[in-house]
Amino acid sequence: MNELDGKNILIGVTGGIAAYKVVEVASRLKKLGANVRVIMTKAAAEFVAPRTFQETTGNAVSVEMFAGAVNFHVEHIALANFADVVLIAPATANFLAKAAHGIADDLLTTVVLATTAPMIVAPSMNTHMLEHPATQKNLEILASRGVQILDAATGWLACGINGKGRLPEPEDICAEIVKFFAPKILRGKKILVTAGGTMEPIDPVRFICNRSSGKMGYETARAAQISGAEVVLISANVSVAPPPNVRLVKVETALEMRDAVLAEYDSVDAVVMSAAVSDYRVKNVAAQKIKKDAESFTLELVKNPDILRELGARKTNQLLVGFAAETQNLIEYARAKLTEKNLDFIVANNVAQEGAGFAVDTNIVTLIHRDGAVENFPKMSKAALAEIIVQRVAEKLH
Ligand code: PMT
Repeated sequence: MNELDGKNILIGVTGGIAAYKVVEVASRLKKLGANVRVIMTKAAAEFVAPRTFQETTGNAVSVEMFAGAVNFHVEHIALANFADVVLIAPATANFLAKAAHGIADDLLTTVVLATTAPMIVAPSMNTHMLEHPATQKNLEILASRGVQILDAATGWLACGINGKGRLPEPEDICAEIVKFFAPKILRGKKILVTAGGTMEPIDPVRFICNRSSGKMGYETARAAQISGAEVVLISANVSVAPPPNVRLVKVETALEMRDAVLAEYDSVDAVVMSAAVSDYRVKNVAAQKIKKDAESFTLELVKNPDILRELGARKTNQLLVGFAAETQNLIEYARAKLTEKNLDFIVANNVAQEGAGFAVDTNIVTLIHRDGAVENFPKMSKAALAEIIVQRVAEKLH
């Protein structure tokens, strides 16, 4: 089952250089199961051949208003009715102006006026055009009518300047579409997720860390955000990019993570603690790089606070989800952590098992619930497991 199976997505491509990136968007949406149709403005067809979209989507591409119906009897109405959602990418300043003021002088703007489907627009243009009061006003008008505006990215633009106006990356646009269709089981809820491995300094150049890549936590944050939650992602050291539309708080040490978590704790509905927090830190961190003169030397470690245990002790109405990373006696040790840390459920993974735990894309877990219920899951992607965790959180919160 793909995330967009059976969904009808109409993409309007207008005349910007970023039109070529939308081929990738169309391709990804199709791979996610969507039925994709494309309307291009004449200007867009100057940048990318309609045939490229036709081959990518497997559907005829419409450009001309009066070229004869390629797909249906009354083409603009048929296309307007087809869409579950309309995505305009890239959206030029000219398109935004016309859409904001109800001008329908080509096929795309006519369909936009005729459709009752929700619309998502991804503006992309020169920074000054984007910042122009006319464009900003037009975006405001569209937003006030419920159109979802995807924030333009910042970077090098085709016009040679470095600024805001880039089309967001195809994967980010597709993530927004997936999110649009996802059941919003966490709407109105604020979820705190921790991820990654804390780094405990030894001296200015060395530290103690662990093998956590952040994949499990970042997928959980992504799944919670897609399900409609407001997400705060408190992240220690990771090797993955953050999901879009979450508030990322970067920390290094266990003490910093504790402070960041406690600062949010009173305002959240649930915490998913997937970070691998170092149990110990170096007692006396050297101010200068330690020289390698001695044949051996000893580091004295002191215990870090157990963040999750502290959350469990201070718990008011928050739902608490912990992880247990074990290499033996998985269920026994996980049950003990569930009780000691006052958790609602715990995700137990045997990190010595192949395909589970640190730095891989999959995990093999057992969920142990407060009421004693146990759920065993086979090996699955961390993305799929994250969805299950989010579902359980939603069930318990409701
Ligand atoms: O990041 P990945 O590469 O995707 O790997 C995922 C993972 C293996 C890190 C993840 O699946 C996982 O198991 N996370 C928990 C790691 C861990 O520290 O487990 P633990 O059994 O030592 O700790 C139990 C729980 O207490 C955890 O929720 C942990 O976040 C929390 N803890 C631990 C120590 C501490 N000082 N403070 C804590 O809050």
